[in-house]
Amino acid sequence: RLKCLSSSVVLSITVLAACSAFLSSSSFAPTSPQAADLTIERNPACKPKPDPSTLLFGKQFSDHMLTISWSEKGGWEAPEIKPFQNLSLHPATSALHYSIELFEGMKAFRGFDNHIRLFRPMLNMERMHRSAERSCLPLFDKNELLECIKKLVEVDQEWVPYSQTASLYIRPTFIGTEPSLGVARPGKAMIFVIVGPVGPYFATGSFNPVSLLADPSFVRAWKGGVGAYKMGGNYGPTIAVQNEAQKRGCQQVLWLYEEEEQITEVGTMNLFIYWTNTKGERELVTPPLDGIILPGVTRQSLLDLSRSWGEFKVTECTVNMKELLDALDAGRVLEMFGAGTACVVCPVGSLLYKGKTYQIPTMQNGPDLAKRFYTELTDIQVSLLHV
Ligand SMILES: *Cc1c(COP(=O)(O)O)cnc(C)c1O
Ligand SMILES: *[C@@H]1O[C@H](CO)[C@@H](O)[C@H](O)[C@H]1NC(C)=O
Repeated sequence: RLKCLSSSVVLSITVLAACSAFLSSSSFAPTSPQAADLTIERNPACKPKPDPSTLLFGKQFSDHMLTISWSEKGGWEAPEIKPFQNLSLHPATSALHYSIELFEGMKAFRGFDNHIRLFRPMLNMERMHRSAERSCLPLFDKNELLECIKKLVEVDQEWVPYSQTASLYIRPTFIGTEPSLGVARPGKAMIFVIVGPVGPYFATGSFNPVSLLADPSFVRAWKGGVGAYKMGGNYGPTIAVQNEAQKRGCQQVLWLYEEEEQITEVGTMNLFIYWTNTKGERELVTPPLDGIILPGVTRQSLLDLSRSWGEFKVTECTVNMKELLDALDAGRVLEMFGAGTACVVCPVGSLLYKGKTYQIPTMQNGPDLAKRFYTELTDIQVSLLHV
């Protein structure tokens, strides 16, 4: 709990004002965007804010956006906050042809004290930096980018819903904008950040368990591949599989891997199993970060929280389908849930595997652990748990 709190960032005007006091070092090809160089063009025509109870994920955007351009020759340009607007791209733009693209997903919350906070945003900046490196996109100073994002949230602060269940979703994006068709490291690139209000994932206020399709003929990520990075190319190809799951009466995909059918992730969430293991111990298990798992901030936070409680074993290890089905058969499975920024935790109710539906008793068991995680994490986010 303390770890989570101390690394959540309190966004206050005083902190932000300090960023303009830094001296700019951008007289020649800057190696990072500099928050001190940020310019702001205010939108003269701000839109009315939607009713927080009607929000749909990713459909509404605020009045401003952040853009930062880079070129091989000129380095990073000054970051700009400007009215939300369309991008104008050369048709050969490398992001459009070769998916030289990555993104992040994080949230800003309005606390009980009316302060706006980002939840562990440096973990997102670190992940974004790793994705940029793997994508051959130019690197940046994580602190400087975070300062720019905080400034955007400050400019659009009225878009952070006045609600303890809704929040402002932040979507940093990084694209190669090289205007030529060679499959090569882009000589031009752009970071842009858009934000928009989102409602609670479970609108009714209580958990709805999801049904999963577990079909080993589909693979999300593989050893030596890029599944551990939030690169756009990992997500487009999953939509057809998601549609297949829906055709077979399931809501989401449980991604399996290799002959032994390792259980990896669920949809775009990390996966947790809470069970009594074969040694008779209470244990929370999630797959390890072995290259095919996306290192979720929520995943890390659930591991940190449960380890701080010290009430049961917390393990990062591979679980395969056979082990799960054996445990289900023996009545040892207590809860199974996905974890991610959108929902915090998402209970799993059933599994369709090789034509047979297996019930998972997550809801019958409370779900005590999923609920506790949900409450503790959201309490930290809206600052009910101030130290
Ligand atoms: C983003 C994402 C997650 C969850 O990450 P959070 O940082 O917790 O939101 C899990 N799995 C995949 C595949 C993802 O893209
Ligand atoms: C932005 O692009 C969308 C989709 O092409 C278009 O409908 C809209 O009119 C454009 N907005 C402006 C201001 O050009």
